[in-house]
Amino acid sequence: EAVPEELRPVVGDRLVEEDAEGEPVPLKLADLRVGKPLLAFPFDVASKKVRSETRMNKVVLLRLPEAELDNETRAVAAGGVLAFSGVCTHMGCDIKTWMVSEKVFACFCHGSKFRPLDRGSVAGGPAPRPLPVLPIKLEGEQLVIAGPFTAPPGFTPQA
Ligand code: FES
Repeated sequence: EAVPEELRPVVGDRLVEEDAEGEPVPLKLADLRVGKPLLAFPFDVASKKVRSETRMNKVVLLRLPEAELDNETRAVAAGGVLAFSGVCTHMGCDIKTWMVSEKVFACFCHGSKFRPLDRGSVAGGPAPRPLPVLPIKLEGEQLVIAGPFTAPPGFTPQA
């Protein structure tokens, strides 16, 4: 049976910063600065375990001005914070760079770009598919996972 650390994100999970030290502290809206991506993992409140045993659970969070979000994006966002798989769909590098001029996430491994304001669609480079969206919501000030990834996170290894 899978342990909590290995499970995919579950509705109601919080999010904790990838590199945080010590006791995990669930992220609040105010912890996100506009335009500064943050890598995070789901956090199971009941067991107090971070679901970080698989890097396929890595999440990239990005806070943007709420006015930039269309209705479809707003429905899966929380106070202007968007969440996606943090694993490039090309060959799996971390997604952690936001290019404000182009409004894309960039993966510098091979130059793929993704549009967070268009459901993670591919804007360039070799990535074969969009970045899966992770729906989130606010409960009070807390960022809370509201649904599963919209597609399996990860990448297709080259033969
Ligand atoms: Fe991201 Fe290749 S792994 S572009």
